[in-house]
Amino acid sequence: MALKVAHISDIHFFHLNKSPLQFFSKRFLANFNSLLTRRGILDSNLAYEVLPFLKKEGVTHLIISGDYTSSSSAKEFEMMQQYVKTIKSEGFELFTLPGNHDAYTKSSYRNQSFFSYLGDLVDFSGDTAFNLVDHQVAAYNLIDPWWLILLNCSCPTPLHKSTGVFSPEIEKSLISLLNSLPKESEITLVCHYPFERFKYPKAHLERGSFLEKILQSDKRIRLYLHGHRHLPRIEQIGSITVADSGSISLKKASSFNLLNFSQEGCEITHYQYENKTWRPTDVRETITALV
Ligand SMILES: [Fe+2]
Ligand SMILES: [Fe+2]
Repeated sequence: MALKVAHISDIHFFHLNKSPLQFFSKRFLANFNSLLTRRGILDSNLAYEVLPFLKKEGVTHLIISGDYTSSSSAKEFEMMQQYVKTIKSEGFELFTLPGNHDAYTKSSYRNQSFFSYLGDLVDFSGDTAFNLVDHQVAAYNLIDPWWLILLNCSCPTPLHKSTGVFSPEIEKSLISLLNSLPKESEITLVCHYPFERFKYPKAHLERGSFLEKILQSDKRIRLYLHGHRHLPRIEQIGSITVADSGSISLKKASSFNLLNFSQEGCEITHYQYENKTWRPTDVRETITALV
C-alpha cells in the first residue's frame, strides 16, 4: 500500500486593497510589492489548474505549506477558503498551515484569521493531543510507519522583515509532541520556512538553528518540507532530506513535489511547468525506511 501526496506552496492569491486604512498596517507594502513585481510573475489560477493533473497522477492528499494570501486581507482569505472548498469537493485530503503572508498584519494574527476561515474545512487537531491552533504543532498518522508533523512558525513581523520564529514555546511543544510519537516511526516535518539561513537574511527562520538541532538529533525525522523561497530544491542536509516545492503560482516556473509514501520509504519527484503542463524532472530522491 502507498500514499501519493503532492506538496504545493506559495499560491499568493491577490486582491488589490484600496482602503486608506492599509497605510496604518503592513498591508500597503504587500499591495505595492504585488502591483510592482509579483503580478508579472505569479498566476494563482495555476493552483486550480494543477488539481485535475494531480488527480490523474493518483494523488489523494495535498500538503500546502502556506502563503495562500499576499496581505492577509479578508478578500484574499475568502479566495483561500474557496480554493480549499474546491480541494475538498474534488476529494483530496489536505494538511496545511499558514505562511508569513497569512499572518501578515497584527490584526490577522490576533484574530487567527487563517484558522477561522479554514476551521470548518481542515483538521488542525490531527492524531495526538496537540493541535495547530493552540500548540502550533499537530501530527497525523499518514501510513505506517510515516507520521506528518505540521509546525507553525508564522507571526507578524516588522515592515522590513518576512521572517518566521521558532519560539521557545513552539520548541517546547515540538519536543513534547515528538516524545509522544511511536519510537518506530518515520517522520516528515512541514514548516513554511527553511531552517537554515539563506541568501535573504531578512526572510529566515529566527532560532532556526534550535530547530535544526532537533531535526538532526531525532533519527526518526527523515524529511523536512518547506516553501517560502519560491525556489525548488531536494537536497540532503546532515541526516535529513530537505525539499522545497517552489511556488505553484510562478507563471514560468510553477512547480511542486510528488511524494509516494510506503512501508519501504518515500520517493520524491519534482515536477516543473513546461508547455502548459507539469512534467516530472530528473530531480528526485528515495528515502528508505529504517524501521
Ligand atoms: Fe511566498
Ligand atoms: Fe513566505
